[in-house]
Amino acid sequence: MATSLLSSSLCIHKEVCSQIHLYTFGGLLGKSNVSLKETSFLGTSLSNHLKSEFTPTIPKNKAQCNQRKISASIVSGQTMSTTPTITHATTPGKKTLRTGSVIITGASSGLGLASAKALAETGKWHVIMACRDFLKAERAAKSAGIAKENYTIMHLDLSSLESVKQFVDNFRRSGRPLDALVCNAAVYQPTAKEPTFTADGFELSVGTNHLGHFLLSRLLLDDLKQSDYPSKRLIIVGSITGNTNTLAGNVPPKAGLGDLRGFSGGLNGLNSSAMIDGGKFDGAKAYKDSKVCNMLTMQEFHRRFHEDTGITFASLYPGCIATTGLFREHIPLFRILFPPFQKYITKGFVSEEESGKRLAQVVSDPSLTKSGVYWSWNKDSASFENQLSQEASDVEKARKMWEISERLVGLA
Ligand SMILES: NC(=O)c1ccc[n+]([C@@H]2O[C@H](COP(=O)([O-])OP(=O)(O)OC[C@H]3O[C@@H](n4cnc5c(N)ncnc54)[C@H](OP(=O)(O)O)[C@@H]3O)[C@@H](O)[C@H]2O)c1
Repeated sequence: MATSLLSSSLCIHKEVCSQIHLYTFGGLLGKSNVSLKETSFLGTSLSNHLKSEFTPTIPKNKAQCNQRKISASIVSGQTMSTTPTITHATTPGKKTLRTGSVIITGASSGLGLASAKALAETGKWHVIMACRDFLKAERAAKSAGIAKENYTIMHLDLSSLESVKQFVDNFRRSGRPLDALVCNAAVYQPTAKEPTFTADGFELSVGTNHLGHFLLSRLLLDDLKQSDYPSKRLIIVGSITGNTNTLAGNVPPKAGLGDLRGFSGGLNGLNSSAMIDGGKFDGAKAYKDSKVCNMLTMQEFHRRFHEDTGITFASLYPGCIATTGLFREHIPLFRILFPPFQKYITKGFVSEEESGKRLAQVVSDPSLTKSGVYWSWNKDSASFENQLSQEASDVEKARKMWEISERLVGLA
């Protein structure tokens, strides 16, 4: 009945239907010859080549050595990961790790909050919730039932490079180690007619989702390097919508960075376009482009730093979490119809709780230590290494995008 109700609504509200179609999965109802690798509801089989690459770090100094004596523990590798079950800290008969310290950006709602809760509940992690709205984050943590001693809220506004630097200073002053960093926060402006800009004058979606995170992760790389945690990780949340090798990624406007001419010009909408490819502003495309940058950044990090640092760099598509605040700027009817559309028609819907477990798995599961991977989950909630689109895995474009990003955030 829900389905038939929804179908008739969709016929009546063509505009909304096309908007739902546009965001992600509408195209699945039609025909296409693109390869289907990403969505959990498509039943993609579990890749069997996941293997543990657990490599303990060698203590560099006496302090680390002493800390090791206290916290030394062995994380056993598994060959395959299935359901995103979060292991609890106290396994009888085994030594426990020291509490890990993870920063999650945008932990005040949706995926960020759900993963903060999933990690905190294991008792193995202290979560630094890096949020722009302190009160909202506090209320969210309380209502999610995260125990006070398991989280700290620190201010971070990714749409300001100054705020990113201030956050890094504050974090260092806290004296906590950094064992995992999750770049999760994002804005999505599908209905915006005109671009808006960050404090530094970059188009807001790319400025926040990519450039803010780029500076944050570059600055915190040294802190991650110094961690003595057995598996230190830098996770950048990706999306199906940026991957044009999927049906959802083929729904217009498609992601496309072009020759990066707008990006190179600073995305300021004055002497350069606000769009990376130099084209006319489109809020939905700007979001998808930012996700391509996120996935390219993860791979470039892997190429540049994995071997020397042992840090695991990874990205993921957590599934379609149709209920989150990401869609807050969409028209009201879209927000009403999108969740049932995903639940009953495409069957691509993933609850916030489930998506939080998936992200927590990428942060802490001993079997997901492989670096340079873009994780997805099949219909049985089993993780597998997914393929990125040609553009989202273009080595030359990643290098160019990295170099321009360095210049824009003042690192070069
Ligand atoms: N929802 C999906 O179906 C889906 C699918 C694939 C990937 N993703 C990805 O999942 C991630 C989380 O999205 P979500 O769905 O959980 O959306 P969400 O509920 O809207 O969460 C986004 C978070 O980002 C924060 N944020 C936005 N601008 C910020 C800024 N300038 N500085 C600091 N934090 C900022 C928000 O803070 P406030 O609470 O203060 O607004 C919020 O906590 C994103 O990377 C998104 O691309 C989502």
